[in-house]
Amino acid sequence: MKTQLCQELGIEVPIFAFTRSPKVVIEVSRAGGLGVLGAIGYTSDEFAEQIELVHKELNGLPFGVDVVMPAGFVGAESGGMASAAEYHQMLPEEHRSFLNRLLEEHGVPPLPEGSTAADAMQGWTDQVSKKQVDIALKYPIKLIANALGPPPKDVIDLAHQHGVKVAALTGKVKHAKKQVEAGVDIIIAQGTEAGGHTGEVSSFVLTPAVVEAIAPAPVLLAGGVGSGEQVAAALAMGAQGCWLGSLWLTTAEALESAPVKKRLLDAGYDDTLRSKAVSGKPARQLKTKWTDAWEDPKNPNPLPMPLQFMLIAEAQSRIHRHVEATGDTTLLMQPVGQIVGRMNEVKPVAEVMRELKQGMRDARDRLNALG
Ligand SMILES: Cc1cc2nc3c(=O)[nH]c(=O)nc-3n(C[C@H](O)[C@H](O)[C@H](O)COP(=O)(O)O)c2cc1C
Repeated sequence: MKTQLCQELGIEVPIFAFTRSPKVVIEVSRAGGLGVLGAIGYTSDEFAEQIELVHKELNGLPFGVDVVMPAGFVGAESGGMASAAEYHQMLPEEHRSFLNRLLEEHGVPPLPEGSTAADAMQGWTDQVSKKQVDIALKYPIKLIANALGPPPKDVIDLAHQHGVKVAALTGKVKHAKKQVEAGVDIIIAQGTEAGGHTGEVSSFVLTPAVVEAIAPAPVLLAGGVGSGEQVAAALAMGAQGCWLGSLWLTTAEALESAPVKKRLLDAGYDDTLRSKAVSGKPARQLKTKWTDAWEDPKNPNPLPMPLQFMLIAEAQSRIHRHVEATGDTTLLMQPVGQIVGRMNEVKPVAEVMRELKQGMRDARDRLNALG
C-alpha cells in the first residue's frame, strides 16, 4: 500500500510518526515509515544533538522534523513575540497563587534550591523554532511539519529551496485550503480524537472533506489511529497516509517515564478531554486532577498562548520531578488522544510497526473477500 506520497518521500509504508524520542524516529524509519522528530521542548543545542543522532543511526533512510510556530498568540498583532521578561509581567497574581495552592494541596514540593524550571519559551516561539529549522535544514530531511497554522512564508520558501516538503496540521477545511494557498505541500487533517492541539471535527468526517477540498494536494489523516485497519480506511477515504502521535508514547523507546506509561496503559477511550490547560489553546489530554482544577469554574481560566505555558512551566517542572520521585501521577499533564484506550501494553516500536502493517494487509484481504 505504497501511496504516491510514499514514493515521493522514499518510504515503504504510509505511516508517519510524530515523536520527541529520537529512538522512536529511528525505529519507525527503519521499519519503512517516516519518523518525524518533534523539536518542542528542546533547546537548539539539544535539538541539534538529537537530530545528529537520528541522522547517524539512519544512515540515509528518510526522516522529518516537526516545529511549532503558532500563527496566533498574545503579541502577534503587534508584530511578534515579546521577550520572556515582558511575558512574565503579564502573568496575573491570581493565577500564580492558584497554582501554588493546587500543588501544595497535592503535596508537590517546591523545586530544590539552585534548580530552575525548564525554559517555558523553548520551542513555542518563532525565534526558537526558526533556529531549529536552520539546524534541521543542514540534514537531508524529507519533511518539515508545523502545528498551529501554516509556517511563516520565509520558512516555507527556505524549506523548498532545500527540496524539503512542508506539512501543516489543520482541523478545518477552510484552513487546509489557506495553507495550500500559502505553499504548504502536505495537509495533515487532524480530527478531534487526536492528542495535542485539536479541533472539534472527527477525522472520519474531516479527512474526506479535506481530500476533496484541496485535491490533488496530498492529505494525511491524523487523530485516533492505532491499527493498520484504520490506516487502510484512511487510504480508502483518499488520504495518502496516517500521522500518528499518541501510539508511540507507550512504546519501549518512548521518553515517557514508567509511572507515566502506566497511567497511559490504564486509561480508557473516554479518559481524555480537550482543555486549554496546557497552552491556552484547546488540546486533547489525559483527564487528571490537573485538568479538573483548570476546568473548575471556581478557578481562574487558562491564559492565552504563550502565557499559559509560561505560567505553568515551573509547576510542570515540580510535578515532573514529583512523578519521577514518587510515581504519583495525580496531577499529571499529558497530551494524548482517545486511542489511549487501545494502548494497553508497552511494546517495542518494531513490533508496533509489524502489527500496523499486518492490520493493513488484513483490511485489504477482508475487502477483497467481499468481491
Ligand atoms: C504528547 C503529544 C505531543 C504533541 N506535540 C505536538 C507538537 O509539538 N507538534 C505537532 O505538530 N503535533 C504535536 N502533537 C500532535 C501529533 O503530531 C499528532 O498530530 C497527533 O498525536 C495525532 O493524533 P493521535 O494522538 O490520535 O495519534 C502532539 C501529540 C501528542 C500526543
